[in-house]
Amino acid sequence: MKNYDVVIVGGGGAGLRCAIEVAQDGELKVALVSKVYPTRSHTGAAQGGMNAALAVAVAEDNPETHAFDTIKGSDYLADQDAVFFMTQNAPEIIYELDRWGVPFSRTEEGKIAQRPFGGASFPRTVFAADKTGHVLLHTLFEQALARDNIDFYNEFFLIDLIRDEERVKGVSIYDIKNGEVITLGAKAVVLATGGFARIYWFRSTNAIGNTGDGQAVALRNGVPLKDIEFIQFHPTGLAKTGILLSEACRGEGGYLVNKLGERFMERYAPQKMELAPRDMVSRAIEYEIMEDRGFGKGARAYVHLDLRHLGEQKILERLPQVRQLAIDFEGVDPVKDPVPIRPTAHYCMGGVHVSDYRTSETPLKGLYAVGECACVSVHGANRLGGNSLTELIVFGKFAGQAIRQMVKDTPRPEISEAERRKGEEFIESLMRREGKGRLAEVRSEMGEITWAKMGIFRDEKSLKEAYEELSELLQRWESIPVVDKSKVFNTNLIELLELRNMLELARAVAYAALHRKESRGGHTREDYPKRDDENFLKHSLLRYSGDRLELDYIPVVITEYEPQERKY
Ligand code: FUM
Repeated sequence: MKNYDVVIVGGGGAGLRCAIEVAQDGELKVALVSKVYPTRSHTGAAQGGMNAALAVAVAEDNPETHAFDTIKGSDYLADQDAVFFMTQNAPEIIYELDRWGVPFSRTEEGKIAQRPFGGASFPRTVFAADKTGHVLLHTLFEQALARDNIDFYNEFFLIDLIRDEERVKGVSIYDIKNGEVITLGAKAVVLATGGFARIYWFRSTNAIGNTGDGQAVALRNGVPLKDIEFIQFHPTGLAKTGILLSEACRGEGGYLVNKLGERFMERYAPQKMELAPRDMVSRAIEYEIMEDRGFGKGARAYVHLDLRHLGEQKILERLPQVRQLAIDFEGVDPVKDPVPIRPTAHYCMGGVHVSDYRTSETPLKGLYAVGECACVSVHGANRLGGNSLTELIVFGKFAGQAIRQMVKDTPRPEISEAERRKGEEFIESLMRREGKGRLAEVRSEMGEITWAKMGIFRDEKSLKEAYEELSELLQRWESIPVVDKSKVFNTNLIELLELRNMLELARAVAYAALHRKESRGGHTREDYPKRDDENFLKHSLLRYSGDRLELDYIPVVITEYEPQERKY
């Protein structure tokens, strides 16, 4: 067992930014635990950019307008104090990243360039071509490596938190490289494990490893999940695979076109057109397909994303990765051909309940959550494109500051031998498990249920069925054996652990979605097609009571903007 001041679980943008902040004066001992080598974290997949009102592209832009756009985009479910905190701090964190070496794309005068993105009043998305997350992740990793007081635990899987009645005391982690279980004691633990949109197994922009390990561990430890029913479907996934084609395609001027050659967004968002928020554009594409104005049929149907009019030079300069993805995975070159696209599961607006946005602390003392793993909430029912990188850097940094203060006044918690052994015993019991269940079969069934019954459109019947069928899959999970008995890179064991996390979270989404009897943002109930502020302008909090899920609600913080109908 090793002791640290702070253990951060997750080596993506939020975890790294938090680690850099905690470690900055060289005094505190920090452990950064990551399931993959940190530069392979999913932050690297973010393409189009991050929002900050730098007012380079348009001088009138400011953090208030950024806040308003975010709140309207959220369908008024975001906490407005937290949104202002993010938008006011966003410009400075961009300049800090610029000083650290993030190679942001520039204007001709050498200023940081900004491009238009969905739901924004002005072009405010700062970018590095279409590889923004990749360069951000590498720069943050370099900064973290330069701090000697951060120990990296790369390729370790989070088994569980170690906690008592009062507070978190550490984590139990599994070394994927050699099968060893290790305990790390800590005064503070930060969950930064990213999202879980891989519950939509067959159609998601997410890395295969985005299985919600932090959220599932929090849920099992009695920490509530907030607004977990809200899942974002990105409008432009490649038709065959669901791989992300950045919103930057539309930001740079790309069109969405149906089989009649119409720019159909005119029907749904006549002012913003392709740059309406993602929930609206995704629904619009699906309506076109339902009304037989898409190409192809059923699961294989799609519409076109047309970039040809942008010209080869602009595509090569601003969208090189998009072009290559279209060539490699769809077999079309956007310079010459329209690209078949359809919505794909992309982002989880909900996550571990953060009870104070200034610190990112959760209701469990000493436990913090940042990035997509957390729900602060700044995205409410629908996140604006470009706000997720901003969120993870702003809240990663300020969580780090708060944690630095907190741990200085906190004694080291004691961890007993029995607490230490628990993680080992759990892994041993899995390795001994016998049964006839088949991992791949259960995971496929999960993917079919989530897409068909709790996807872009939902209703009472589909959600009830999803909840019941996912509960049954969770029972079947108990009889899936680990067939591979080896200790070295046992991916069979890791996939089994990940499947449990996904099943628990998928069921949690179905449960919370079933009880939200309205349509808001990314949650579209066909049986309750309207937003219902009277009954549902509130955050859901989901937790276990024994082995049953239990829902509770808390108010949304409204400081400046009363809810209005969203029109674009
Ligand atoms: O479309 C994109 O480039 C993704 C950005 C985001 O999710 O913020």
